[in-house]
Amino acid sequence: MTKTHVTATVNGDPVEFLADPRETLLDCLRDHLGLTGSKEGCGTGDCGACSVLLDDVLVCSCLVLGVEAQGARVETVEGMAQGGTLHPLQRKFIEHAALQCGFCTPGILVAAKALLDRNPDPTESEVRFGLAGNLCRCTGYDKIVRAVLDAAAEMRGAQ
Ligand code: FES
Ligand code: FES
Repeated sequence: MTKTHVTATVNGDPVEFLADPRETLLDCLRDHLGLTGSKEGCGTGDCGACSVLLDDVLVCSCLVLGVEAQGARVETVEGMAQGGTLHPLQRKFIEHAALQCGFCTPGILVAAKALLDRNPDPTESEVRFGLAGNLCRCTGYDKIVRAVLDAAAEMRGAQ
């Protein structure tokens, strides 16, 4: 099948890759760009493990075609840390032990960042709602919610 040349910006860097028209953005990120932080938990839009930002919109990258990223800005979990400095959400996930196997964690971090970008002071209910599309089957959600609320407070300078 003829491949399509795609140019995009991923985590601030210009990238290009050849995509089969049927390939998902998730597969392109992982297989063509070596960004394996985003995970495939289900491949059907149900688990959120593949969450990325596409032009600032939270999407399941397993439901987006790679060719749809043409000209777009994509942000993945790999773009959250700046150099050697973790994003506050990443640090708070560690401090609150909000991850175990880590399969769901990249998608939850990306979804939490999307939430705090638009709502820096969420209630607990808003955090739970914002992460409702992200499933975790080993940690339970309380530590994750506490970590997000703590990160939000720190990012607001409330601590
Ligand atoms: S792998 Fe995309 S939602 Fe589960
Ligand atoms: S830590 Fe989320 S599925 Fe295991």
